[in-house]
Amino acid sequence: MDQMNLEKLAVIGIGLIGVRHAELIRAHPMASLVGLCDVDPSRRAVADRFGVPFYTSVAELLERERPAGVVIATSNATHAAVAEICAQRSVHLLIEKPIASTLEEARRIGEAAQAGGIRVLVGHHRRHNPLVQKTRELVRGGGLGRLTGVSLLWALLKPDAYFDVGWRRERPGGGPVLINLIHELDSLRFICGEIEEVYARSSSAVRGLAVEDSVSISLAFANGALGTILASDATPAAWSYEANTGENPVYFRTEENCVHFLGTAASLAFPRMELWRYADATRPGWTEPMARSIVEVAGVDPLPLQLAHFCRVIRGEEAPVVDAEDATRSLAVALAVLESARTGLPVHPVALGGG
Ligand SMILES: NC(=O)c1ccc[n+]([C@@H]2O[C@H](COP(=O)([O-])OP(=O)(O)OC[C@H]3O[C@@H](n4cnc5c(N)ncnc54)[C@H](O)[C@@H]3O)[C@@H](O)[C@H]2O)c1
Repeated sequence: MDQMNLEKLAVIGIGLIGVRHAELIRAHPMASLVGLCDVDPSRRAVADRFGVPFYTSVAELLERERPAGVVIATSNATHAAVAEICAQRSVHLLIEKPIASTLEEARRIGEAAQAGGIRVLVGHHRRHNPLVQKTRELVRGGGLGRLTGVSLLWALLKPDAYFDVGWRRERPGGGPVLINLIHELDSLRFICGEIEEVYARSSSAVRGLAVEDSVSISLAFANGALGTILASDATPAAWSYEANTGENPVYFRTEENCVHFLGTAASLAFPRMELWRYADATRPGWTEPMARSIVEVAGVDPLPLQLAHFCRVIRGEEAPVVDAEDATRSLAVALAVLESARTGLPVHPVALGGG
């Protein structure tokens, strides 16, 4: 593809994940990196490393570089304000997850996008992972029979330095439910269907911060299936999507399963894709021999796939796989978890206004 056909992209917020987006754009055959923006002037060094212009003002970046699309990788509570500036200038958006830190902000993004005639893709990148897509195909296609339940474990240890960044330990916006479990909740919605009710307890006993370090969640899906999640970012443990899929090489890889999907005909351990069913389908029952088979799926880094999709979304060739409305539903589930943990009562995400 010649230079003329490359999508001109910029990144706003060049912290932990913003740098990764800049690297991906730089290396991608469909895109060119035209500028970086961060309110922290010390991030100029990153732009210098990439050899692209640096701005501390979003408006100035858009004015001078005229990108077709930007990646918003700023802290959660700033997504809406940045998105509004971009939408006013008709710049298409890839917004990091969660779409925002409140439903009100998420709605503002949807309205600004409509007013500006732009397309919004939200960075729930796991939906581009073939492992997740294959699991969805199995669950939705009846490969497990009727889904009865799902059990998910997400446990790892975030280093102390992670919490040096203020917003990660404050509400609204910080905490593993909004930063990490939003991925799990979005994937469960994608694979199993809508989540009707959540009931949660949380604890911040390990670090004593305003945000939770552990949470247990009971889920009820609209299709009648039930689910449980146990999550903690304060424990040395081998069971998390990040460690088990090896999707992001910065995490130490452990060859374990972190999610079990249960159906009336078979069950699946993810991400090793171990499918368990009775050896003789005509003789089911707890004393009968079971057989394990592996569902073969090639591992692929989903972030370049997400970026290619964003370029096609900008060109109008594809509709966003996760648009603002869809991502707002995932946000509503995450907020319902926090609300349930706060009140001790079950919460329907739709009742929060996210449905
Ligand atoms: N998809 C993923 O796997 C993934 C991984 C990590 C983070 N994230 C998401 O990406 C976003 C950023 O997370 P992070 O950990 O990289 O944060 P970070 O704090 O490391 O970086 C955020 C950067 O944004 C800048 N910033 C804040 N407000 C700004 C504004 N109004 N305009 C311009 N720059 C601004 C900050 O100065 C900082 O450099 C969050 O929404 C987070 O949830 C996604």
